[in-house]
Amino acid sequence: MFIGLLFVAGAYLLGSIPFALVVARPFGIDPRRAGSGNPGATNVARLLGKKWGALVLALDLGKALLPTALARAYLSGIPEGPWWVAATGLAAFLGHLFPVWLGFRGGKGVASAAGVLAVLCPKALALLLPVFVLAVALSGYVSVGSLAAAALAPLGVKFLYPEPAYFWMTLSMAILIWVKHRANLQRLLRGEEKSWRRA
Ligand code: G3P
Repeated sequence: MFIGLLFVAGAYLLGSIPFALVVARPFGIDPRRAGSGNPGATNVARLLGKKWGALVLALDLGKALLPTALARAYLSGIPEGPWWVAATGLAAFLGHLFPVWLGFRGGKGVASAAGVLAVLCPKALALLLPVFVLAVALSGYVSVGSLAAAALAPLGVKFLYPEPAYFWMTLSMAILIWVKHRANLQRLLRGEEKSWRRA
């Protein structure tokens, strides 16, 4: 159990690293105070261009993928192993949403959730990616792709993976992604949502 708690705590701290701020700060930009106000890859792409947005996407995805992959390698064999592995992935995701370094006000978690699913439920992620791309292409808004993929994620995981821990982890992430997108939802309803293209 101690080793499980160690992984969960480490994943949370790693997930808490605000890469959007780390990347944008040398440009004198704080993504929390510009664009959509979200410290995430979409807003960095909007403020600094696609190349920097892609870098933040890779870093936010990687900071969740790494502890999840290590947990799967080292915790699968302990009692309740899959629950500890799922808790580690969820902790990295929660670190991004509620980072200790930023007064617990972080991003929306889509890239970090993708990093967790890439390790634990890759077939589900492979189904969600085209949904995301299609929804963004049809709507013109990244938030629509994020919401569509998050809505389908628990279903995909439920049907493709028998492990209940992965389902509950994915359902928790999907609910939190929707909660974190409530300002986007309001803007979408008012027709005021911001494009991901440069501001
Ligand atoms: O993953 C975040 C995306 O869905 C929305 O980002 O900056 O438009 O709020 P943003």
